[in-house]
Amino acid sequence: MLLLKLHVLFVLLSGFGFFMRGLGHIKGQAWVQHKLVRILPHVVDTGLLVTAIALLVTLEISPLTDWVLAKIIALIAYIALGVFAFKIAKTPARKALFWVLALLVFAYMYGVAITHSVTW
Ligand code: HEM
Repeated sequence: MLLLKLHVLFVLLSGFGFFMRGLGHIKGQAWVQHKLVRILPHVVDTGLLVTAIALLVTLEISPLTDWVLAKIIALIAYIALGVFAFKIAKTPARKALFWVLALLVFAYMYGVAITHSVTW
């Protein structure tokens, strides 16, 4: 199913982009401030959300299904941890902490998506 493939593509792009930007932020590299690097994640994440909603509609899955709800809540946590890692935290150690926590939440969402189970 094309929609599902697109969703997974956006998921992988989002995760890879987040991983790379985290490394750049922690090491204080200049490329993370580049306009494209700042805009692209929003494009990718919008694609991820649009395909997610389209999947719910086409597969007739309720957003209140436990594993979908777990993904939505985890996504909010992932976004918040990203804001802490990239905008609020000032020291490399704190940036790294929030970045690692966000990556763990990402891995959780991946596990939930594949198993359709909140607890894997
Ligand atoms: C909160 C927003 C999201 C919603 C509503 C959502 C919804 C869905 C739906 C309905 C499917 C299809 C399930 C099926 O085939 O039965 C799916 C698949 C998938 N989602 Fe998401 N998703 C969201 C975010 C994410 C995120 C953030 C990730 C990764 C961290 C992710 C990873 C995946 C993966 C890997 C699959 C494919 C699973 C498989 O091949 O069986 N999704 N998602």
